[in-house]
Amino acid sequence: MLVSAKEMLTKAKEGHYAVGQFNINNLEWAKSILLTAQEMNSPVILGVSEGAGKYMCGYKTIVGMINGMIEELKITVPVALHLDHGTYEHCYKCIEAGFSSIMFDGSHYPIEENIEKTKELVKVAAEKGLSLEAEVGSIGGEEDGVVGMGECADPDECKMIADLGVTMLAAGIGNIHGKYPENWAGLSFETLAKVQEKTGKMPLVLHGGTGIPEDMIKKAIDLGVSKINVNTECQLSFAAATRKYIEEGKDLQGKGFDPRKLLAPGAEAIKATVKEKIELFGSANKA
Ligand code: 13P
Repeated sequence: MLVSAKEMLTKAKEGHYAVGQFNINNLEWAKSILLTAQEMNSPVILGVSEGAGKYMCGYKTIVGMINGMIEELKITVPVALHLDHGTYEHCYKCIEAGFSSIMFDGSHYPIEENIEKTKELVKVAAEKGLSLEAEVGSIGGEEDGVVGMGECADPDECKMIADLGVTMLAAGIGNIHGKYPENWAGLSFETLAKVQEKTGKMPLVLHGGTGIPEDMIKKAIDLGVSKINVNTECQLSFAAATRKYIEEGKDLQGKGFDPRKLLAPGAEAIKATVKEKIELFGSANKA
């Protein structure tokens, strides 16, 4: 059964570790992440972006697939199915489809509008027993070669949003999605410390987990980060393993073209990445 992320994140905040949100793209992704979380006895959050939702034939298909996997693979660790960077409309679509957690990303709205919409969704999520993530300060990223540096959140705005009763809060601290550029300034621990001071027990979320050095991840957890999102890193390890398989000509040997064989090294590579992150984040044996 899918669960809200509230309990796992409250425990993570108290226990000074972080729960990984791993974004899914298809069946192989979801299966690899769930099996690894189970093997590591770790709670886990499966992230679904709107684009990935569309790719996987809509939110209802995903809910059906994940619920089926939890049952058939005998997954007993807590699993939250979470909309990543949702628009207002898609939050409602996911609630209707049976997601257990949603993120409303109102960071691009003026703060008043972000507050108004987040407030409404806090109420709806509470009624349904779902967890809700909000965002303040946009998270940059590389798109079509243009690199946007992550904008740092205003700690006072973070407090205003946290006080609305959200479950977890993503605050921009110079983090960005995708690979970090050579000249990246690093995470702003000064901002993080201020946000933590203002928001107290609120579990903080670090997006853009791919490529952040281990010491920065550990420091961020020390400063109150309880959820870390990883997407690109699983894509990179999947692609590298698949490339190797094909470059070695394995798809041309015997029935090596069978998708169950062709996609197996990539699926194993995702497992290795997820395992590494769960160890780094400290959520192993915290299920
Ligand atoms: P990366 O793709 O950089 O790991 O970021 C993932 C993320 O933050 C999803 O919201």
